[in-house]
Amino acid sequence: MLTAWDALSAHWAEAAGVDLVLVGDSLAMVALGHATTLPVTLEAMLHHAAAVERGLQHTPMVCDLPFLSYQCGADRAVAAAGRFLKETQCEGVKLEGAEPETLEVMDRLVRSGIPVMGHLGLTPQSVRQLGYRRQATDPVAQERLLLQARELQRVGCFALVIEHVPAALASRLCHELHLPVIGIGAGDGCDGQVRVSADLLGLTPQQPPFSKALIDGDGLIQQALSQWVRSIQHAPAPATDQPAPHC
Ligand code: KIV
Repeated sequence: MLTAWDALSAHWAEAAGVDLVLVGDSLAMVALGHATTLPVTLEAMLHHAAAVERGLQHTPMVCDLPFLSYQCGADRAVAAAGRFLKETQCEGVKLEGAEPETLEVMDRLVRSGIPVMGHLGLTPQSVRQLGYRRQATDPVAQERLLLQARELQRVGCFALVIEHVPAALASRLCHELHLPVIGIGAGDGCDGQVRVSADLLGLTPQQPPFSKALIDGDGLIQQALSQWVRSIQHAPAPATDQPAPHC
């Protein structure tokens, strides 16, 4: 799975052959210039999801429910998630965490016919509490995360993203759970992998330690564009004694 934030990045992800495209709320940082994922609104996510959908021919798409679109009760969450299904062709929505209130919301979504993907470990919508640190590094936290993952399975999540946790824990989750576990910064033992495309392309100013850039996209783009600017600046001035065409 790769993330996309507009039609162009959706086209890149699909052409690369991914199984699933995620309209992640990381677009708040990648495309909108915010320092965290917290400020992105439901309207903005819907706007970007519609653009991603236009860039896809056949790859299924999942959309992140943004911060505060599902934390204020199940009714509001169903309404928000329902908008993604009605206004885009997405297959489902992703929610972070597994607190009792979140499980209740997920249960309502699933029973309303809305497929739900879970997200545990480093959950960026809780950055103000957890930071961007690796999660579940001690046995107590690992047991808690296992319990939470089982709860996500119980309420009917169709898949689980697990971010920035020890590889051994992620492998254990894959063995214990029936649902597919998709890792990022969680080792090679997961059922699938997800990355923020802009990280792989070297386009993000703050590269996460667990997601290496495959190319220096920012450098390559800057080089190409400044080359073009220089070529225009140094181009010979147009002759002034010729009549302008079409005059
Ligand atoms: O928002 C996002 O891009 C994500 C991925 C890191 C899984 O949730």
